[in-house]
Amino acid sequence: MSLRRILTVDTDMAVLKQKSAPVAEVDDAVRVLMDDMLETMYAAPGIGLAAIQVGVPKRVIVMDLAPKDEPPAPRYFVNPEILWASEETKPWEEGCLSVPDIYDDVERPAHVRLRYLDYHGKLIEEDADDLYAVCIQHEMDHLNGVLFIDHLSRLKRDRAVKQVKKAAKADA
Ligand code: NI
Repeated sequence: MSLRRILTVDTDMAVLKQKSAPVAEVDDAVRVLMDDMLETMYAAPGIGLAAIQVGVPKRVIVMDLAPKDEPPAPRYFVNPEILWASEETKPWEEGCLSVPDIYDDVERPAHVRLRYLDYHGKLIEEDADDLYAVCIQHEMDHLNGVLFIDHLSRLKRDRAVKQVKKAAKADA
């Protein structure tokens, strides 16, 4: 496994805005990508990561929502689709490894039903609520070139990008 660089909005906005393509088959190359993504996500640390965030425009997501005091519970999603979303929505404070240190409330459907291929290429259908629902919708947005700050007002979004640029400059 190896760590990959996480792209951020200050320097990599054009890549992050790309739409990712479906994966033809869950083979060893895709599993290497998922292993690397998971390691990169844990190191960050974060709870979800889409392949485009490491510069790979494929419909692949990794996630681990286990509380800190519990053993890791990695989840892998290839070609995920939302089959159903509730009319009921819920605000949740979100952040993103590609928009470091920015947090804001995003309103999304509270419950979704999804379908995806897992690490072994097995087709899974399941329901997601709470943090799982928030995270899978956030990560699936990435596959379509959408960032959580795109759900905010233009003013807030511009301010977030400016803040990330400023912080990156201060770090340099
Ligand atoms: Ni994100």
